[in-house]
Amino acid sequence: HPKSRLKTVFLSPMAMPVVDTEYLKQIDKARRDLRALISNKHCAPIMLRLAWHDAGTYDVNTKTGGPNGSIRMEEEYSHGSNNGLKIAIDFCEEIKSKHPKITYADLYQLAGVVAVEVTGGPTVDFVPGRKDSKISPKEGRLPNATKGVTHLRDIFYRMGLSDKDIVALSGGHTLGRAHPERSGFDGPWTKEPLKFDNSYFVELLKGESEGLLKLPTDNALLDEPEFRHYVELYAKDEDAFFKDYAVSHKKLSELGFVPG
Ligand code: HEM
Repeated sequence: HPKSRLKTVFLSPMAMPVVDTEYLKQIDKARRDLRALISNKHCAPIMLRLAWHDAGTYDVNTKTGGPNGSIRMEEEYSHGSNNGLKIAIDFCEEIKSKHPKITYADLYQLAGVVAVEVTGGPTVDFVPGRKDSKISPKEGRLPNATKGVTHLRDIFYRMGLSDKDIVALSGGHTLGRAHPERSGFDGPWTKEPLKFDNSYFVELLKGESEGLLKLPTDNALLDEPEFRHYVELYAKDEDAFFKDYAVSHKKLSELGFVPG
C-alpha cells in the first residue's frame, strides 16, 4: 500500500527551532555578544572561516551538508581542511551557553555575518531558523587550495553557487591569514587583515608582493575571463564588491535552508 511508505519523522525541539519572539530576542542578544567577543578577541577571520566551512559542504544534488552545525562534531572539525577551527567552535560555545535556544547552525552563520559587519564590511541579511544536524559529510567537500579553475567550479557548482559567487566569496580572504601549522600556507592576503574591504582584489591584480599570500586558487581567479571580469570590477569598485558579497554570503549561509 503506498501509504505504508510514508514515514513520520520526529524532530527534537533542538533540531527544529521554533522561531518565535523569544528565539528572535535570543538572536538579538547573541548578535550583541558576538560583536563584543569578536572585537575583544580579534577573531573575525576565524569566525568567518567557521561559518564558511559549516556551510560549504552543501551538495545541491543530495541536499546533504550545508549550514547545519555539523562542524561541531569531532568527526568533522578534525578533517584536515578544518584545522584550527576548534578555536572558533569553542568561542561560539561561550555564546551558546548563554543563549541555549539558538541552534549551532544559526549561531555559526550569525557569527560569520557579525565578523563581516564588525570589520567594516557590508551588512549581510540574517534569517534565523536553521536546524542542527549531527551527521557530518565525508571529508573532501571543501575546496583544495592547491588546485585551479576546474576544481573551483566543481566544488562551488556542487553547492549550487555561480562564477560570480566564487569571486565575490573569495573576497573573504580580505580577512585573516594562513597558518603553516594549519594549512601549510603562510601569511595574510592584505596589509590590514582585520579590515573588510576590497584590498584582496587590489592585491591579487598587483601580483606577487612581499609578505602577502596568494593561494593557487586565488590566482586561478585571474586565469578565467569569466572570473577575472569580477576581480577587475571589485578592485576598482568597492561598492560593487560589497553589494555582490552581501548577496553571495547570504546565499552561502542559507544553502539548503527553507525559512519556515
Ligand atoms: C583561510 C583556502 C574560500 C574565508 C584560508 C586558508 C586556506 C583557505 C588554505 C588558510 C587556513 C589557515 O592556514 O589558517 C580557501 C580556498 C577557498 C577559500 C581554497 C576557495 C575559494 C573562502 C571563502 C571564505 C573564506 C569563500 C569566506 C567567505 C577565509 C578566512 C580565512 C581563510 C576568513 C582566514 C582564517 C584565519 O585567519 O584564521 N582559506 N578558502 N575562504 N579563509 Fe579561505
